[in-house]
Amino acid sequence: MAQESATVVLAARSTEKLQEVAGKVTKAGGKPEIVVTELTEEESIKNLVKTTNEKFSRLDILINNAGVTHSAKLEQTSTEDWQRCISINARAPFILCREALPLLKKSQAGYIVNIASVVGVKGYPLQSAYTSSKHALRGMTISLAEELKGSNIRVHLLCPGGVDTDMVGSVRPDIPKKDLIKPEEIAELALYLVTHKGNAVIDELHIRRATSTPWF
Ligand SMILES: NC(=O)c1ccc[n+]([C@@H]2O[C@H](COP(=O)([O-])OP(=O)(O)OC[C@H]3O[C@@H](n4cnc5c(N)ncnc54)[C@H](OP(=O)(O)O)[C@@H]3O)[C@@H](O)[C@H]2O)c1
Repeated sequence: MAQESATVVLAARSTEKLQEVAGKVTKAGGKPEIVVTELTEEESIKNLVKTTNEKFSRLDILINNAGVTHSAKLEQTSTEDWQRCISINARAPFILCREALPLLKKSQAGYIVNIASVVGVKGYPLQSAYTSSKHALRGMTISLAEELKGSNIRVHLLCPGGVDTDMVGSVRPDIPKKDLIKPEEIAELALYLVTHKGNAVIDELHIRRATSTPWF
């Protein structure tokens, strides 16, 4: 997005990491704005949209990317573990979509890109909490896309396999780093979705590692 000169509002908890990403956005040609956000807190989520509105009076693209995972057998997954996944991966995108819609509706072409996972469409062992949250996110995305059919807003879902970030090391240490999808590859696909303005629409993209099994 930054390479396309976008103003990018960055939201997460760690100021330090946000500043690091803001530096990359500037270097790539974009304009960063940091809004420290705790996605488990509704007021903090509302503040993210409010600040965006106050600073820019405009929002064209909402990307729900922040997420957490949990790796354990269902019997060893506490209710708190399950709730944390649901809260950050499903509840926060729901609140963000709801709060951002009035602004997106004013855009010439608005986009919502929700980042689910391959486990948004299937289930892996040891990931019942994470899988539940991503199925919930996918369900909400389909429903919202139907609601917004014919409007100025397009709603998309990305379902990636293993991507080379901090998260994957904790859940799939078995995948060699060289086989992982690069985060930039996911960003390129998201960029395609939000810049394509023709009559063809891709609702959902399933993105697997080249070394994984096709169609599964
Ligand atoms: N990596 C993979 O293999 C993979 C595969 C499929 C899908 N995904 C999905 O891709 C998305 C990005 O994941 P990633 O791999 O980049 O994970 P990551 O490296 O762990 O990054 C997660 C991001 O979410 C933010 N975050 C976590 N909890 C938060 C909270 N309570 N409030 C605000 N921000 C919070 C983190 O920032 P702070 O910690 O500073 O808050 C961080 O920026 C997630 O939705 C994930 O489920 C990842």
